[in-house]
Amino acid sequence: MKILAIETSCDETAIALLDITGPKERPAIKVLGNNLFSQVHLHQEFGGVYPNLAKREHIKNLPILLEKTLKDAGMDSDTPDIDYIAVTRGPGLEPALWTGITFAQELSKKWNKPVIPTNHMEGHIFSVLYDLKPEESLELPALALLVSGGHTELVLVKDFGQYSIIGRTRDDAVGEAFDKVARMLDLPYPGGPEISKLAQRHRESGKVPSFEFPMPMINSRDLDFSFSGLKTAVLYKLKSLEEKDLSEIARSFEDAAVGVLVEKTRLALENHPEIKTLIVAGGVSANKYLQSEIRSLIEKFPEVRLEIPSLHLSTDNALMIGAAAYVRAEELQTSDPSSVVARGNLSLEE
Ligand code: KG4
Ligand code: ZN
Repeated sequence: MKILAIETSCDETAIALLDITGPKERPAIKVLGNNLFSQVHLHQEFGGVYPNLAKREHIKNLPILLEKTLKDAGMDSDTPDIDYIAVTRGPGLEPALWTGITFAQELSKKWNKPVIPTNHMEGHIFSVLYDLKPEESLELPALALLVSGGHTELVLVKDFGQYSIIGRTRDDAVGEAFDKVARMLDLPYPGGPEISKLAQRHRESGKVPSFEFPMPMINSRDLDFSFSGLKTAVLYKLKSLEEKDLSEIARSFEDAAVGVLVEKTRLALENHPEIKTLIVAGGVSANKYLQSEIRSLIEKFPEVRLEIPSLHLSTDNALMIGAAAYVRAEELQTSDPSSVVARGNLSLEE
């Protein structure tokens, strides 16, 4: 099945063309074309994503990326050899989502191909299908720790299309907390990688931080998160320090943020002994310290296999949208593309 996948939910414009066959839990995926334009440098001066700028850039970049992707796949733009057009319908910034949806609708009409409206978070979950080893398959039920700029969720993946959110943030997403703390420290957007680098430097120096931040909700027996108090604690600390060692602040912040993610994941694994796979995905899954702490955790659960997408699959991309569309194609495909509507707060449970 050949799928043209389009992603415009935030500040990356991405198009991929995939040839996917085989069982959903172990598909064979050929990447015929994959192009991405990151707007990060444009949003840096605003210290975050500016929706109308994102929209304008998506509209400008989509035709360019499409032409390049079709060319890479050796297809012509009048009658390309594809079966479906997959597009992210949510969650994300609605003006940005609409640009991808409108583009998909036009192509669907022009080529007479059905559209598969796709959930961005399902994309993050199934991004791990690309890195499976030849003899491996994605064994369900799985637990997914989804950590991005907009989401922090623990999701029980019972089957393809059957999800239950068993933990979520009550305020900020963890990526948002990384970005906000980075801004307090005058580091560029997006702040996650910058904080991570500083924290790593401090850890490697062998120094012990002279203060710790509280791990929010660490003792609540539920699986929910909260990151806004941690962000405020960093702000107060910053104000109270006469000599500021930014790497020490970054380190203590990352220790607390990662600590709580790992602890809640441990609790979820204990509560659900049926889980066969732990998926850690979304932009923050690129964090090296989170990865190493999760690896240590999983050693205590020898029956659970860990899947973390490689770097280019952890932040937003169109490959993951194609994979999510493949596993849901039967239920989600529509030959009435005008029925596809952007949903900024689309949940995995609907
Ligand atoms: O999944 P993603 O690319 O976009 C959303 O769907 O939100 O995630 C972006 C988020 C940003 O908040 C960014 O700071 C964070 O992922 N991020 C990181 C790292 N790399 C990206 N956070 C911590 N450590 C990193 N290495
Ligand atoms: Zn994302």
